[in-house]
Amino acid sequence: MSDAYLSFANSRLGSVITSILGLPQPQPLRRFSRHQPVLDGEVLVGAGPQPGLLEALVASFSAMQAKTLAHDSLPQWTAIANAAGLMSGRWAVGDAPGMRVDALVFDATGLRDVVDAEPLYHYLHDAIRSVRPSGRIVLLGRSADGCVNPGQAVVQQALEGLMRSVAREARRGITVQLLRVAHAAEPMLEGALRFLLSPRSAYVSGQVITLTSPAGWMGAKVDWQQPLAGRTILVTGASRGIGEAIADVLGRDGARLVCLDVPQAQAALDTVATRLDARGVVLDITADHAPAELAALAAEMGGWDGVIHNAGITRDRTIARMRPELWQQVVAVNLQAPARINEALLTAGALKPGARVVCLSSISGIAGNAGQTNYAFSKAGLIGLVRSHSEAFASRSMAINAVAPGFIETAMTAAIPFAIREAGRRMNAMSQGGQTIDVAEAVAWLASPASAGVNGQVLRVCGQSLLGA
Ligand SMILES: NC(=O)c1ccc[n+]([C@@H]2O[C@H](COP(=O)([O-])OP(=O)(O)OC[C@H]3O[C@@H](n4cnc5c(N)ncnc54)[C@H](O)[C@@H]3O)[C@@H](O)[C@H]2O)c1
Repeated sequence: MSDAYLSFANSRLGSVITSILGLPQPQPLRRFSRHQPVLDGEVLVGAGPQPGLLEALVASFSAMQAKTLAHDSLPQWTAIANAAGLMSGRWAVGDAPGMRVDALVFDATGLRDVVDAEPLYHYLHDAIRSVRPSGRIVLLGRSADGCVNPGQAVVQQALEGLMRSVAREARRGITVQLLRVAHAAEPMLEGALRFLLSPRSAYVSGQVITLTSPAGWMGAKVDWQQPLAGRTILVTGASRGIGEAIADVLGRDGARLVCLDVPQAQAALDTVATRLDARGVVLDITADHAPAELAALAAEMGGWDGVIHNAGITRDRTIARMRPELWQQVVAVNLQAPARINEALLTAGALKPGARVVCLSSISGIAGNAGQTNYAFSKAGLIGLVRSHSEAFASRSMAINAVAPGFIETAMTAAIPFAIREAGRRMNAMSQGGQTIDVAEAVAWLASPASAGVNGQVLRVCGQSLLGA
C-alpha cells in the first residue's frame, strides 16, 4: 500500500508545511538493487583505546572495496589501511570540516572504563551531521560475558543506550546498530557489516546483534553476489505478502526454493513457484501429517539448507472475548507447526550441516498488543523457540534465529482502520512503515552463511519502533 503522507512530506510544499507544523518528515529509504556495491561513498573509521578489531576491519573493507577515512580518534588508521592497499586519508584535517560520508564505524571493543568513551562522544559529536541520508552507523563492542572486569561490562552496556538514542536522533533514513563481536568471532565481521552497511538493512535500526564463534566453524567461502547459491530452502506461506517477498529475495540470492501454502492459495502459489522455478507444495502446516510429509520431501530432495517459518495468521480479540478455537488456530499455525516441523526435520536428519532456520515473530510478541493476546503469545513463543533451540542447532553446525517485523505495508496492515494505521506507521524512528522487501532482506541475511556467528537471536525489522523499545 502506498504511503501518501511520505510522498507529500517530500514534495516542495509538503516539506515546508510539515517543517512549520513540526510534523514527521519521513525520508524515502534507499533499498538494495542487484550488483550494487555495499557502499557508494566513504566510511569514517574511529576507535577508542586498544581497539580489538582493526585487522578484521581492514580485511572486511578491503573485501568490500570500501573507501575509508580516519577520524582524529584513530589517526593510525590511514597508515594501517594504506599498508593493506586500502585507499584512505584523514577526515577534517585542522579546522576544515569533514567531508560527507556514507557510514560511520567505531571500534569500541577496547573500552574498559566509562572515561574511555570520550573519544566516542567526540567522534559522534563531530561526525553525525556528515552522514549522508540513508547512511549507516555501526558501533562495535563486546558482550558482557567477554568482559574482564565490571568497569568494562558497564561501559560496554552503556553503548546500548547511546546507540539507541543516536538512532532516534539520526533521522534522514540513517540506521544505527551495535554489533557485539566476541573474541574469535572476528572472521564473522565481514558478513555482518555487509548487511548492516548496505541498503539491505534499510528498515533495521536501533538493534544489538551479537557475533559469536560457532564451535567447529571451518570458515565459509561466500559468493557475495549469490550468497544462497546451491542452497535449498523451504518458505512457508509463500504465495503472498512477506512470504512472497522472501521467496523473491532468496531466489535473487541464488537459492533453490520450495514454496508452500494452503490449498486455498494454490493459484497464487503456482504463480510464485513458476516465476521462481521453485517446487510448489500445497499443504496446511497444522495438518497432523505435515511434519512427516515435509521431512520426507526434504530427504527426497537431498536435504534442505534452510527453512523460513513465515506462514502466520491473526484472529484478533481481547482475551475476554477470545473464543477457544481462535486461540487454538493462531497458536497452532504460528507456534506449534514450526516447532513440530523443526522437530521432524531434525529427527529425520533432513537439514544439512550449515542449515539455517528463520522464524517470523513480531513486535507484538515483544511489546504485546491489545486485541492480539493469542498472536502475541504465539510470536513471543517463537522467540522462546529460537533461544531454547539455539544450542542444539549449534551442536549440529546449524543456526536458528527470529525476525520480528514492526509495521510492514501489507494487505494485513492495509486492513487496519485509518487512524490506527497512521499511528502504527509513524511510531518509529523512520516515521514510516517498512516494505515487505525489508523483512525479506533480513531473512535472506539470516538464511545465508553471511550471518555466521548469529544464533538464537531476534532481529527486529521495525525502523526502531517505539513499541517494545
Ligand atoms: N504484515 C506485518 O506487518 C507483519 C508484522 C509482524 C509479523 N508479521 C508476520 O509475518 C508473516 C507474514 O505476514 P503477512 O503480512 O505476509 O501475512 P499474509 O496473511 O499476507 O500471508 C501469510 C501466508 O501464510 C499462509 N498460511 C496461513 N496459514 C497457513 C497454514 N496453516 N499452512 C500453510 N500456510 C498458511 C497464508 O495462506 C498466507 O499466504 C506472518 O507470520 C506474520 O505474523 C507480519
